[in-house]
Amino acid sequence: MKLLAVIGTRPEVIKLAPLINTLRKKIELKICSTGQHRELVAQALRAFEIKSDWDLDVMSEGQSLNILSSKILSGIDGILKEYTPDWVIVQGDTSSAFCAALAAFHLGIKVAHVEAGLRTQDLKNPFPEEGNRLMISRIADVHFAPTKNAKLSLMNEGIDPKTIIVTGNTVVDSIQLKTSKWNNGEPKYLSNEINGIVSKDNIIFVTCHRRESFGEIILNIAHMIKRLALKHQKFQWVFPLHLNPEVREPLIKVLKNVPNIQLINPLDYEENLFLISKSHLVLTDSGGIQEEAPSFGVPVIIMRSSSERTEGISSGIATLAGQDPKVIEVMVESFLQKVSLQIGSITNPYGDGKASERILNFFLSLHISEFDG
Ligand code: UD1
Repeated sequence: MKLLAVIGTRPEVIKLAPLINTLRKKIELKICSTGQHRELVAQALRAFEIKSDWDLDVMSEGQSLNILSSKILSGIDGILKEYTPDWVIVQGDTSSAFCAALAAFHLGIKVAHVEAGLRTQDLKNPFPEEGNRLMISRIADVHFAPTKNAKLSLMNEGIDPKTIIVTGNTVVDSIQLKTSKWNNGEPKYLSNEINGIVSKDNIIFVTCHRRESFGEIILNIAHMIKRLALKHQKFQWVFPLHLNPEVREPLIKVLKNVPNIQLINPLDYEENLFLISKSHLVLTDSGGIQEEAPSFGVPVIIMRSSSERTEGISSGIATLAGQDPKVIEVMVESFLQKVSLQIGSITNPYGDGKASERILNFFLSLHISEFDG
């Protein structure tokens, strides 16, 4: 059997890396990087010591989704014909994942979808990811659902339950892979920048990058963070900036020169996890960070109008705030009244660190062993 794993963006690398390493021990597997992200993917690949076999190098600044998608589709076509894999493995809901699944489908190659079944039921939010997920589910041959909720969503859409396996989210495999090597809760290598930040404590970790927030929403969020930071000066507001200029430019414009706001470059994966683990509170619109924070008992305020990660909300660790800065501000204020915010060790509702093993078992024997979450 031959497998081809396709990666395009940083979260796909983080979530497929432990699976790639597990599968490679037993099955032939090659990796195609679409190059949807350049620096961010290179950084994430280094973190997991993985090299791609092909790189389509499709990234260019400001390109539309259609241009991006057409480049991925035509680039991957040749690779599928050359390598002729039995299965193409895609993860999540990016344009790379959808285009790779579609290209495989066109050539009659089976599609395995990792992190299948996440839904907000709102096609515009997240955009275009909700559409990508739905379309991948229609053409995938096996669906690795991270949770029982995700399996239910797929079944509600008429997907044959025999093709759905609840595996847990591979993001928890990645967290465990990295944190198991830490000494006293710290990675072996930390940059001076991160050492400086954690030595001062009182961190509030903020990220914002989603396409549906571009423009006025990001600007409003930036002004809100500035107001909060000026009011709560005992906290350090640490904001790693995504490389997308649509995100960076408005945030830098509003937030530069506020002494207790640190605008930093995208972090190395372990440093990112470490900073989350040291934070009092996380404000984010990222899906992955919603799944990572529960491993460290750190509360999350989700700056989105809907979330496909409802398990964190049900467990009480995450709160859905919406995108209205006034509402988010009130919520943050009420969190900051509390003396201690960290919830301590909770069981991560998104997985148990064995997702990669379950997926390997599927490929080896079609044996189904499920995550009980
Ligand atoms: C993409 C995914 C989104 C995922 C996010 C994670 C789609 C439609 N969106 O969004 O689901 O949550 O990745 O980050 O697939 N850039 C660089 N270097 C990089 C990465 C990005 O310069 O390493 C800049 C480029 O100008 C690029 C732009 O960011 O054109 C936007 O990247 P793109 O992949 O289109 O969208 P993201 O917002 O990153």
